[in-house]
Amino acid sequence: MWSLFISFCLGFIFCKALPSLRHRAFARFMSYFYSTVDPSFVAFKKKIFGDIVKEKPRRPGSSELRILEVGVGTGTNFQFYPDGCHLVVVDPNPYFESYYNANKAKFPNIKTQEFIVAKGEDMEMVEDNSVDVVVVSLVLCSVGDCKKFLQQVLRVLVPGGKLYFMEHIREWDSDKHSMKQRFQDCLTWLQIWPALFDGCELNRETHEVLKSAGFTKVEFQKMYTP
Ligand SMILES: C[S@@+](CC[C@H](N)C(=O)[O-])C[C@H]1O[C@@H](n2cnc3c(N)ncnc32)[C@H](O)[C@@H]1O
Repeated sequence: MWSLFISFCLGFIFCKALPSLRHRAFARFMSYFYSTVDPSFVAFKKKIFGDIVKEKPRRPGSSELRILEVGVGTGTNFQFYPDGCHLVVVDPNPYFESYYNANKAKFPNIKTQEFIVAKGEDMEMVEDNSVDVVVVSLVLCSVGDCKKFLQQVLRVLVPGGKLYFMEHIREWDSDKHSMKQRFQDCLTWLQIWPALFDGCELNRETHEVLKSAGFTKVEFQKMYTP
């Protein structure tokens, strides 16, 4: 019991005090996570991102669909992108790049450019009205300034463009799952979960932030992941 407690404390201090080691460890963890993930989780993601293949380019004079994925991580969403599209990616953690490149090599049908190391809030290098689709998956839980992030998304999207998102949020069923809510709140308020998982907060209500961000229309469904 004591050794578990000491390992936990050391892990917590390590994650708080050494951000670059934490970033490196997180990139490795995410790569491991996706190597063991259940196929039902991929099927679940497909329900959300499956329609991206039907999107059409909207930029005047362009025949190529341009997609921006913010917080791309190891690059787990290539499988949802259509042949011949042009993918731009942004992520603040440079340790994801090698995992991303390894995944990218499996999808020669997708045109990519360099991995841009930046936060979504600071992606000024991506031009205004330059992409047809923006994708974020499991990112807004750890973004420092979601409002600024979403303003940047609105800026880079061409008029009529779409943001596809999948985010985990605070448990919403207070009647059935109030314990779970308390657990999520505690792990977040005590900074345990954010320290271990690169800033991730379990109790965000990201759908509310999205509703007030200034998009013409926001559609979402709350679902439990398999
Ligand atoms: C849980 S991982 C998800 C990675 C990938 N999107 C996926 O679905 O597998 C969270 C990702 O968000 C990135 N991230 C964290 N803060 C960010 C920010 N402010 N702007 C953009 N990306 C951010 C992390 O570096 C990490 O790649």
